[in-house]
Amino acid sequence: MCGIVGYAGYRQAYSILLDSLKRLEYRGYDSAGVAIVGSGVTVQKDKGYISHLEETAEPTPGTVGIAHTRWATHGPPSKENAHPHLDCSGEIALIHNGIIENHMELRARLKASGHVFRSETDTEVAVHLIESYASDGLEGAVRRALQDIRGSYAFAVIHAKEPDKVVAARNESPLVVGLGTDENFLASDVPALLKHTNRVVYVMDREIVVLNREGARITDYEGRPVAREPQRITWTLEDAEKGGFEHFMLKEIFEEPQAIHDTLLGRVAEPELNSFFREGYTNVKLLACGTSYHAALVGKYILEELARVPTTAELASEYRYSRAPADRPLVVLLSQSGETADTLGACREANRRGCKTFAITNIIGSSLSREAQRTMLTRAGLEIGVAATKTFVAQLTALYLLAIRIGLERGTLGVEEANRLKEELRRLPRAVQAVLNEAPYIEGLAHEYAKTRDVYFIGRHLGYPIAMEGALKLKEISYIHAEAYAAGEMKHGPLALVGAETPVIAIATRDHTYEKMLSNIREVDARGAPILAIGTEGDKDLGKVVDNVIYTPAVPPLFAPVPVVVALQLLAYHVARIRGCSIDKPRNLAKSVTVE
Ligand code: AGP
Repeated sequence: MCGIVGYAGYRQAYSILLDSLKRLEYRGYDSAGVAIVGSGVTVQKDKGYISHLEETAEPTPGTVGIAHTRWATHGPPSKENAHPHLDCSGEIALIHNGIIENHMELRARLKASGHVFRSETDTEVAVHLIESYASDGLEGAVRRALQDIRGSYAFAVIHAKEPDKVVAARNESPLVVGLGTDENFLASDVPALLKHTNRVVYVMDREIVVLNREGARITDYEGRPVAREPQRITWTLEDAEKGGFEHFMLKEIFEEPQAIHDTLLGRVAEPELNSFFREGYTNVKLLACGTSYHAALVGKYILEELARVPTTAELASEYRYSRAPADRPLVVLLSQSGETADTLGACREANRRGCKTFAITNIIGSSLSREAQRTMLTRAGLEIGVAATKTFVAQLTALYLLAIRIGLERGTLGVEEANRLKEELRRLPRAVQAVLNEAPYIEGLAHEYAKTRDVYFIGRHLGYPIAMEGALKLKEISYIHAEAYAAGEMKHGPLALVGAETPVIAIATRDHTYEKMLSNIREVDARGAPILAIGTEGDKDLGKVVDNVIYTPAVPPLFAPVPVVVALQLLAYHVARIRGCSIDKPRNLAKSVTVE
C-alpha cells in the first residue's frame, strides 16, 4: 500500500503535493518523492519520511506534478527504489500504488529492447513501457501500456512534452479526483484532498483520467467517455483518515478481503524460494508472539495437512531459552511488525543454532526481514490499530501459500491439487466479505456480551487457535476477562468455572470435530452458560442447541479459520465500542513490542 497524489492548477504544485502527501502517510512511509513538470521533469526523492524529503529537497517551481509515499513491496526502501521513476529519456515520471504481477516478464522484454533499469521495483517497468509507446502521446501511451500490465495499480504519470497534464489510471487500487476552481487534484484517498476541495469523483477500475487545470476527463480503457457526477464529502479530516469508519480497527477489519487478495498476488513462481524449501530440514518450527503466535498455531495444522511435515509452534519468547535440540528445523518466524524483540531474538538464536530461517512479515526492510535468511511479505498495508486484524488473515494466507509450496517441493502435493487449493484461496476474500456483511447482526449480539465479566472461548483442531485469537481480541480491547480452551479440556478443569454468568463462545464449523464440539457445547449448556456458536452457513442443527449463531460461509475446513476469525474480530470490536473503550490504543499495550 502506497499513497499517491497529483496536482494541475495555477498554484505552485510542490508544497501542495507534499502537504497532501502527509495526509496519506498512514498508507506507507519508508520513502517519498515528488516530480514537477515545467521546462522538463524534475524528480526529488529519498528513503525516509516525507518530513525528511521536505528538509532535504529544494522546492521546484511548476504548477503540475505528482508525489508518492511508499510502502515497499518489491525492493527494499532506498533512494533508487523510491518513486517517482523515470524512463530512459528522463522526460516521463511515474508513481504507482499496487503490484504489477507480470513485472519480471515485462522487465526482460524491455531490457532486451534496450531499456535501462535503475531500481528493483515492479513499478519501473510501467514507465519504460509508456516510453516505448510515447509516439502515441501521453494518454495514448498509457492506454497501450495498460494492455500489457497485469496486476493492481493506481498510476499517475507526467511528461515533459505535455507539461499541462497528469494522466492517471486505476485497477484494484484506490484513486479519487478532487475538483477545485482552476485547479484539480488526484489522490489515493480523500484526506489528501480535503484541505482544497470537498467535491470528489471516485475513479473506478479500468478507467483513465486526464487531469489539467481546467478539469478531469475520465474514459474507460476502450476510450469511451465516463460521465460521473461529483460527490460532496461531508467528513472531517479525522473521519476521512479512517475512511469514514469510527476506528482504525474497524476500517482494517473491512480491508481484510483486499489484504488477502494482495498477499496472494504475484506469488506463482519464485524459483529461488522453492529451492530454499527443497532440503536441509526434516521438520518445521513456527515461532511468534501474540496474535502472530495464533497464526503459527493454525500454521502447524496447515503444514502438517498439506506438506505432511512434522511441525511445532512455539512462543518466540520461550524458544530462546530452550535447549538446542540435535535437529535443525526450518524455522518460520511470524511478525506483522518485524520488530518484536522476542521474535527477533528467536530468529538470531535459530540462526546461531544453524537452522534455516524464514520470516513472514508485513514490513519490508524490517529488522526481522534483514535477520532471517529469506522473507515472504504479507501485503496487508499499514495497520494502525494496536489489535492485529488484517495482518492476521494475511499471515494465514501466507501460511497456506507456504504449505502449498513446501508440499509441492516435498511431493506431498501434485500440481493439480496445488492449483485447486490456490483456487480456493482466491475465493477467500468473498467469504470474508460475506462475514463483513453480517456486521450489523454481530453488533446486535455484542450488547449481550458488553456487560459480562468473563467469557470462555472453546474450539477443537483449527478452531482452538482461533478461539485463542478470539479471546485475545476481546480481552485486549474490551478489558473483559476472556480465556480459550480446547473444547475437550473443559471437563478436565475449566468446567468448574462455567455457569449462567459466564457466556461461552464455541467455534462449531462443519469439520471432522463437529460432532464432538456439539457434545462439548451440551456440557456447558447443562451448566447454564449462555452460548454463542460460530457455525457454517446451512447448518440446521446448531441453532437448536445454542442461544445464538453467527453463520460463516461454507469453505473447505482447512480455510475455515479465516472467515471465523473475522466474525470474532467484529464481535470484540463491537463489545469494546459499546463499553466505550479506547479501541485503537488499548491501555498498557503498544503496536510493536521492542522490549523483551
Ligand atoms: C495483537 O492484537 C497484539 N497487539 C499482539 O499480540 C501482537 O500480535 C504481538 O505483539 C506480536 O506482534 P508482531 O506480529 O508485530 O510480532
